[in-house]
Amino acid sequence: PMPEHILVETRGAVGLVRLNRPQALNALCDALMLELGAALRAFDADEAIGAIVLTGSEKAFAAGADIKEMKDRGFADVVADDFIGNRWETVLEIRKPVIAAVAGFALGGGCELAMMCDLIIAADTAKFGQPEITLGVIPGAGGTQRLTRAVGKSKAMEMILTGRMMDAAEAERAGLVARVVPAAELIDEAVKLGERIASFSRPVVAMAKEAVNAAFESSLAEGVRLERRLFQSCFALADRAEGMAAFAEKRKPVFVHR
Ligand code: HXC
Repeated sequence: PMPEHILVETRGAVGLVRLNRPQALNALCDALMLELGAALRAFDADEAIGAIVLTGSEKAFAAGADIKEMKDRGFADVVADDFIGNRWETVLEIRKPVIAAVAGFALGGGCELAMMCDLIIAADTAKFGQPEITLGVIPGAGGTQRLTRAVGKSKAMEMILTGRMMDAAEAERAGLVARVVPAAELIDEAVKLGERIASFSRPVVAMAKEAVNAAFESSLAEGVRLERRLFQSCFALADRAEGMAAFAEKRKPVFVHR
């Protein structure tokens, strides 16, 4: 069936997913999250795709979890379906790089979804925030953990305890986003970045992503050990031999993703 709340297209070797619930500023209802999960999995399985861009609209990346869908839920009910674990964490299972391209509001679950991606590039119109406190809840999709690791304790505390939004310039200074670009260029810049990543060896890109992510899940010694073994594993690939031969021969490498 055609997805109802997202738009999916490919641009060369880049898979592009746009959140598309304009009437609700892309609030992340259950149905949307299921469609997003399916689209991400399909791109992850597609050999022609080397990177994925996830974006919203000019006005909003996503204004959070769907408050209207949540408002009448009770404790037993949210525990029973482990709200939000089972719907939201698909993006963490994707092995290809996922770039969040954020314009406008990225609030609550929207900010958390962007932070689950591998990197964020922001339009100059982007606004990031965790306003859950104003609704009588705390962030529930990793915000207290990922925002704190991204911007440090003091700024994360301030944002989470007050609901204050951060603009694009502040987000870049704080290290939450890789880069800020003019709003009109956001998608093209994100796709260009995805194309560059997709031009490299897929298995090497996947290992690089895995190694960086290990920095969030392990001690320094464990992370360095994993990195060394993954680095050594690259020597099993034809693409490694090609990359280094091409350098020595002063030509462009031709990667075959093997
Ligand atoms: C449901 C939402 C929504 C949301 C906006 N809308 N955000 N619906 N859930 N999170 C709807 C509005 O109700 C409205 O619908 C329409 O989108 C347009 O929004 P407006 O408020 O009219 O727009 P504007 O005045 O421009 O204000 C933009 C805004 C505001 C500042 C972003 O919409 C806002 O504060 N939204 C809620 C942000 C928030 O609290 N997010 C955290 C959610 S909790 P109608 O029908 O009236 O036109 C969360 C928890 C995550 O994310 C935990 C893990 C899941």
